[in-house]
Amino acid sequence: MSLTGERRTLTIIDLAQMKERSEKIVCLTAYDASFGALLDRQSVDVILVGDSLGMVIQGMDTTLPVTVDDMVYHCRCVAQGRTRALLIADLPFMSYSTPDLAAENAARLMRDGNAQMVKLEGGAHRAEAIRHMGKQGIPVCAHLGLTPQSIHQLGGYKVQGKDDMAARAMLEDAQLLQDAGASLLVLECVPAELAAEITEVLTIPTIGIGAGLQCDGQVLVLQDMLGIFRGIQPRFSKNFLNGAASIDDAVKAYVDAVRNGEFPAAEHEF
Ligand code: KIV
Repeated sequence: MSLTGERRTLTIIDLAQMKERSEKIVCLTAYDASFGALLDRQSVDVILVGDSLGMVIQGMDTTLPVTVDDMVYHCRCVAQGRTRALLIADLPFMSYSTPDLAAENAARLMRDGNAQMVKLEGGAHRAEAIRHMGKQGIPVCAHLGLTPQSIHQLGGYKVQGKDDMAARAMLEDAQLLQDAGASLLVLECVPAELAAEITEVLTIPTIGIGAGLQCDGQVLVLQDMLGIFRGIQPRFSKNFLNGAASIDDAVKAYVDAVRNGEFPAAEHEF
């Protein structure tokens, strides 16, 4: 609780302590104040204002058209709704191609959008930007595996790190990003065994999406876990609204399932 009696906002230190205590970190995406408040009252620990909003809010085929202005707008909306959850905002496509540009755009997300942390996609080549932002007091979440901003380079939404060489490269990248100062690492569509190894080796928490049960936390796109995205439901996701009496109950079921180690199940893993 804070001095005003409100629940205090979680910090990166809380997340690090949760990893130390082997407590699962529960994360969901949100894009507006109503869902920000709903997720917050169901005790979601981390809200990610993902650039997935390009697909689930704007109806685009990819995340590439999302702008920094879009991210600032949605982040500010979500920030109005939550009090406890730590708020992360995605740096969109090409908004962090140099360390200076990354810091400038991260500052917009934090100053105007009220984000506490920014997320960027990619491996070792992002280390310099992460280091530079760290010097300015900007906490960074890295993102490895399926990185949707590189969809045209990857050639589709596919599981990453499947062969030995790719798996070793991802493990090395994860360590480099941690060494550069990343405070959190999202692993998307990664074989469960590899994600478990990365989680074991790193001291920072990992948040999985299609990366198995051994990650320190889990994230899903809100529209996927409510079964309301008009596209294909990914194999790693689950419709928690099925059989729930309300959206609150569906989110609570997800929170409980992650905390109790019941989600993801074997059928959601690669
Ligand atoms: O944009 C997003 O929602 C994300 C999650 C899928 C991790 O990056």
